[in-house]
Amino acid sequence: MFDPVLKIENLRLLADTKSGQAEILRGVDLTLGRGEILGVVGESGSGKSSLVNAIMGLTGDSLRIDGQIHLNGTDLVSLSKAQMRAIRGHQLAMVFQDPMTALNPVFTIGTQLSDVIRRRFPTISKRDAKEKAETALGRVGLADAHLRLENYPLQLSGGMRQRVMIAMALLCEPEILIADEPTTALDATIEAQIVELLRDLRNDFAGSIIFISHHLGTIAQLCDRVAVMYGGRVLEVGPVRETLGHPLHPYSRALVECEVDDRPPDVPLSFIPGRVPETIDKPAGCIFASRCPFVIDACRQLIPELREVGNEQKAACLRLEEIA
Ligand SMILES: Nc1ncnc2c1ncn2[C@@H]1O[C@H](COP(=O)(O)OP(=O)(O)OP(=O)(O)O)[C@@H](O)[C@H]1O
Ligand SMILES: [Mg+2]
Repeated sequence: MFDPVLKIENLRLLADTKSGQAEILRGVDLTLGRGEILGVVGESGSGKSSLVNAIMGLTGDSLRIDGQIHLNGTDLVSLSKAQMRAIRGHQLAMVFQDPMTALNPVFTIGTQLSDVIRRRFPTISKRDAKEKAETALGRVGLADAHLRLENYPLQLSGGMRQRVMIAMALLCEPEILIADEPTTALDATIEAQIVELLRDLRNDFAGSIIFISHHLGTIAQLCDRVAVMYGGRVLEVGPVRETLGHPLHPYSRALVECEVDDRPPDVPLSFIPGRVPETIDKPAGCIFASRCPFVIDACRQLIPELREVGNEQKAACLRLEEIA
């Protein structure tokens, strides 16, 4: 039975801008099962990072958050900053796209890993923390782990730094590991190795993973389910094989049709005719209507809810049955 560790309900993220109120997330509904790997895909600007930043409580003071994010029944949206800090590094840990944003260049890898361990396990001895750090580096496939502990971040390659970040996140023993495009800054070979590593780790990592990527191929290899985001909404969600094999929503269909394997990792998915909606746009109906080949008048008047169509696939489109 599906056992959700995270349940997001009608999550909205709003910002006041000079041009009016921006809706960065427009009512996201999403669940993450215990032990599952959930992929999140969508064009650049669709709100993927905003969603995971909201889960981590890292949206900043200028944004207003509305809705609920239940982690094991506790609504994270209602927690204070101090309470959220206590959850980060314990229940929640994140691997960023660029590890240098999270690693401090002036401290050795060993010092930074030990700090994380001692914050998580305050009574651990210095020696045990160092040993734990070394074991973790070995586990993420870094050779000569004891030597690496003495290195500074800039002495490591990009792929090695990303492994260090993954080790750091896993040392927190989080219930949920969030990886926001952890492989886009890496070349294709290293990307494949990191994906392989995450796949291996899932066997002995008891938690769940949210994995954001532009690459449908990577998502297909790694994830159990996938959510397709567009314009601050989830337009489709379902088991990865069904959803990528037979996408229901016109947007997911376009995404899958457009996916080409040799697209460089940093090129966004911008080949669907038209443009991604601005966050200040306020369409009365479906957010994809202006680019949708199946659009009818009703689509411009009603915001479709996610609904299940079988095979646990859900999509937010008025015309699912007609266009199937
Ligand atoms: N603090 C903010 N204030 C105003 N707008 C913001 C803020 N943060 C994000 N946005 C806007 O929200 C939208 C979604 O951004 P987000 O970074 O979540 O997209 P993304 O799906 O992660 O894109 P990418 O694939 O490029 O990483 C963008 O239009 C972005 O400009
Ligand atoms: Mg992003």
